[in-house]
Amino acid sequence: MQKVTLKKAVFPVAGLGTRFLPATKASPKEMLPVVDKPLIQYAVEEAYSAGIRHMIFVTGRNKRAIEDHFDTAYELESELEKAEKHALLSVLRSVQPDDMHCAFVRQPRSLGLGHAVLCAEHLIGNEPFAVLLADDLMMGPVGGLSVLAQMAAQFEQVQQSIVAVQEVPAAHTRRYGIVAVDAATDAYPALMKVQKIVEKPAPDVAPSRMGVAGRYILTPAIFEHIRNQSSGVGGEIQLTDGIAGLMRQENVYAFQYQGKRYDCGSKEGFLEATVELALQHPEIGDHFRAYLKSIKLD
Ligand code: G1P
Repeated sequence: MQKVTLKKAVFPVAGLGTRFLPATKASPKEMLPVVDKPLIQYAVEEAYSAGIRHMIFVTGRNKRAIEDHFDTAYELESELEKAEKHALLSVLRSVQPDDMHCAFVRQPRSLGLGHAVLCAEHLIGNEPFAVLLADDLMMGPVGGLSVLAQMAAQFEQVQQSIVAVQEVPAAHTRRYGIVAVDAATDAYPALMKVQKIVEKPAPDVAPSRMGVAGRYILTPAIFEHIRNQSSGVGGEIQLTDGIAGLMRQENVYAFQYQGKRYDCGSKEGFLEATVELALQHPEIGDHFRAYLKSIKLD
């Protein structure tokens, strides 16, 4: 079998961000900064670290700022050049490395995550691709591979679809796609074949407590299954249901990644990410640690 390498990633960024109103009234939720980088940049950097160079954003109304963020900021660059602020210039340019290509496609109506992925089909064609949900900020282990890079390494071996999973509290199954899996085999010790996948089940009917985090590597066969599927939970075309269809045709694997997921779609998760990433930040980490120690909490 000729091995295929992952080259493209899809970022569904058309969501309304209602959980962060009023902050997201006029600006995209994916542009909310955690310390000094917007959420979407963390996701794009993660894809880049996995060797991906083609970034496809599925956007909607009010998402111009995302396109601008990954474009050249001429005025800003020439001002910084004039002022000889080289360090800032390189921070700015690092957002958009020369070998990275961005494409933007609109999702005209909010019909769900599955539908958003389908909007990118013509830019993906017949090859495997990653899907990254920027709301889920994923940090790989310190000094180790990013979560998507871990998944890409698995994909190199298995050449079939992989979803990232983590154990979630029983009371939270309604927030996730939930999978039931077979035990890993010697052939692929880090991968568990998915037996069943259900979108946001109630705790009493959930097939397990293994929840899907917002990272997927999918084969192009997924498109047909999304297209043929009627709306699911919440009246939306769900990616989870497309994956359930794909499993009738091909193996789909679950991968328990190393690292930590912050649910930046919620205020609590967003604040947790902010505090933890600020503590690790080379410029402000020490100061922030001292500050946190100095405040009285009770
Ligand atoms: C989406 C998916 C869900 C997955 C989750 C991870 O849900 O539909 O299967 O577990 O992302 O964050 P959302 O959070 O968009 O409601």
